[in-house]
Amino acid sequence: MSGVNDIRSTFLSYFEKNGHAAVDSSPLVPRNDPTLMFTAAGMVQFKNLFTGLETRNYSRATTSQKCVRAGGKHNDLDNVGYTARHHTFFEMLGNFSFGDYFKADAIEFAWNLLTEEYGIDASRLLVTVYHDDDEAFDLWKKIAGLSDDRIIRIATSDNFWAMGDTGPCGPCSEIFYDHGDHIWGGPPGSPEEDGDRFVEIWNLVFMQFEQVTVDERVNLPKPSIDTGMGLERIAAVLQGTHDNYEIDLFKALISASEQATGVGSDDNTRASHRVIADHLRASCFLIADGVLPGNEGRGYVLRRIMRRAMRHASLLGAQDPLMYRLVPALVAQMGEAFPELRRTQSLMTETLNLEEVRFRKTLTRGLDLLDTASADLKAGDALDGRVAFKLYDTYGFPLDLTQDALRRRDITVDTDEYSTAMEEQKAVARASWAGAGGAADDAIWFKLREKHGATEFLGYETEKAEGSVLAILQDGAEVSTAKKGDEVSVILNQTPFYAESGGQMGDTGTLVVGETKLTITDTKKRGDGLFVHMGTVDSGTLKVGDGASLEIDHARRSKLRSNHSATHLVHEALRETLGDHVSQKGSLVAPERLRFDFSHSKPVETEEMRRIEAMANEYVLQNSQVSTTLMAVDDAIELGAQAQFGEKYGDEVRVVSMGKVGEGNEAKAWSLELCGGTHVKNTGDIGLVTVVGESAVSSGVRRIEALTGQAAREYLLQQDELLRSTAAKLKTTPADVPTRVAALIDERKKLERELAEAKKQLALGVDGGTEAAAEDIGGVQFVGRVLQGVSPRDLKGLVDEEKTRIGSGVVAIAANNEDGKGAVVVGVTKDLTDRFDAVVLVRAGSEALGGKGGGGRPDMAQAGGPDGANVDAALDAVRAALAG
Ligand code: ALA
Repeated sequence: MSGVNDIRSTFLSYFEKNGHAAVDSSPLVPRNDPTLMFTAAGMVQFKNLFTGLETRNYSRATTSQKCVRAGGKHNDLDNVGYTARHHTFFEMLGNFSFGDYFKADAIEFAWNLLTEEYGIDASRLLVTVYHDDDEAFDLWKKIAGLSDDRIIRIATSDNFWAMGDTGPCGPCSEIFYDHGDHIWGGPPGSPEEDGDRFVEIWNLVFMQFEQVTVDERVNLPKPSIDTGMGLERIAAVLQGTHDNYEIDLFKALISASEQATGVGSDDNTRASHRVIADHLRASCFLIADGVLPGNEGRGYVLRRIMRRAMRHASLLGAQDPLMYRLVPALVAQMGEAFPELRRTQSLMTETLNLEEVRFRKTLTRGLDLLDTASADLKAGDALDGRVAFKLYDTYGFPLDLTQDALRRRDITVDTDEYSTAMEEQKAVARASWAGAGGAADDAIWFKLREKHGATEFLGYETEKAEGSVLAILQDGAEVSTAKKGDEVSVILNQTPFYAESGGQMGDTGTLVVGETKLTITDTKKRGDGLFVHMGTVDSGTLKVGDGASLEIDHARRSKLRSNHSATHLVHEALRETLGDHVSQKGSLVAPERLRFDFSHSKPVETEEMRRIEAMANEYVLQNSQVSTTLMAVDDAIELGAQAQFGEKYGDEVRVVSMGKVGEGNEAKAWSLELCGGTHVKNTGDIGLVTVVGESAVSSGVRRIEALTGQAAREYLLQQDELLRSTAAKLKTTPADVPTRVAALIDERKKLERELAEAKKQLALGVDGGTEAAAEDIGGVQFVGRVLQGVSPRDLKGLVDEEKTRIGSGVVAIAANNEDGKGAVVVGVTKDLTDRFDAVVLVRAGSEALGGKGGGGRPDMAQAGGPDGANVDAALDAVRAALAG
């Protein structure tokens, strides 16, 4: 009798031996179907291979597919715990032919595996076929040697399998196992078929059609095969039980639950242990595939599953959170087959613990309310729907949890009244929003948000996915179609496009529906949770209701990821280098660069900047894993997580950590930030961080700009090129450039000095000799000169020289320069300053130059003006003033 892991690998290797590619299970959140909530069958990942839309390098495949049947079209949640075979999570073993083999081989493979590899007694097996499928009937007879009475024709949809309202479909043939007459039940098609004696173990679907719309069915390009066998069911058969919860895997999980609660499994507690074991699997696998508990969509289904289990934990008397303590048991059982469980073990543990801590805060009070409200009810009665709504709204009890809690007493819930109460609350929210004066522009988003719920973001896990078009907006109004050239905003139920927030720019990419193509140029958040894709229709017509393939610009996102992670590293390096006062004041994560504004009162010095850059790069080289967890805000802040400027946080937050300090048990994350952005897997993916600028934004706020990866490298190459070409021009080596440039600067200064001196000398020379003759004006010696092209700066020196030369008298020198302006300087020797004031004299000259007076001391004053051509007149004016 073999264990679940052996049974799985026997199946896969049997089909591998028979030419099938062993393909990994696809994630529980389907990427290739916008209409499915969860992957609920093995064929989901191959949908487009059946229809011929996609081809791969194999035409036969085998998988063990993770499936969840809760919340969506297939929903088994309510029954789990109370029956022998219902699960929210299960594995479906399957073999697939994409236009390769058909019925005969499918039947032969199945029969041989069951009777030979698994060694099942053939006399225990019987099958069903679709009522008019004579071919399958004859094949079973021929291949398996089954007698006519063990090939049952079924006319109902039970033997016609379809993935959903649309998609590949076809008649099927199911294989049943007879557990023996000690168990009640009858063969398929009989009135007792719902009993546990005859159990369907394998469904062979003869895929022949595609349901294109509800009314239109077409043939598939080639007949194909899709089969599905519940791993838990076949394990039960092989382990001699009809009860899935008795197989080795569930025994191990239930035993972990017994140990953790200290409560054994008996008639009273069995259902609770089963619920816990089953829901543990569903919760962990969903978390591992990127779903986190929330209030809508997939997140809410996960929350319902988790809380249902948590109520059962409390029923078993668990005083503290229980579920997270069972994670190691699950990883031990299934981690080998599903490595994602090992990879995300800490995320699963923390998420389960957080949810249980939070839920326990209201669980007891909610149960008290439920007890009181249902005290007078008896079997067959229904609980007031308003009570159920209050339990939902105030105490966080999902409706099915309340239903489950009343199930033992055979009491139901008035769900109509529950829905009415829910509607009323929405109406109040609408009214209060309108009353609060919400902007008219926002009204449309509010309406769409209410109608469709929040957009589910798949972009942490995938960059390509399908989504259903829920609304198209053009010029601010809803439209039902958009044609080529139209600029539109599109809302879908789910998307891999990141909408601008936390500084990170929105994604760009494409939206395709058959021949219709849109280029998405930006994605923004609106109306509290709607992701709005903005773009232009390049071809075809887009319609509301279309299922669209969405693909973001991978290269651009990859740069955004690097720049966002680098921003965290730079932020932490700034804090360590400059101090804890550094806090984020703004941030831009663009594909080409990152910009980070932070509080700091003075410029960051070059030396500090070098240390910051070195530190960030040290953690890049450390290449540690970047991990994301969900935490209560308070816990995250207590751990030291940096909150982002301007972001609103809910009760629970994503915490992104990177870099490692310390070893072993002491190890902790170096950078810890509350952040909803997208990040690299390992810090090494950033490649390189280069700071390219530091500047002031406003008082007390500095800005740092940096590049990463290829952009950083190109920047450094450019710098290098600049240095090399400079060195070449200087005819030296790059290493000698600084010395060479310093020498050139010195040389230039020296030359400038020499040039000024030469000009002075030249100017004096131009005036006709070395010594100008002094005139006599009223008994005072006067030297007056006009010089061309001499800087006003030099005039004072010349006036001084003349004063010294004549010993006693008045000197006036006027000059004009290249740009046409004029200046005049007047000097009076000391012995005459009590008679003449240089300032008064110079003002006379200034007027002629069009100037506004001048200034200085009694012995030396200067003035200037725009009319440089009038220098002679200026000098005459000084002369006249001296003459009085
Ligand atoms: N797709 C088929 C099923 O889910 C095999 O039963």
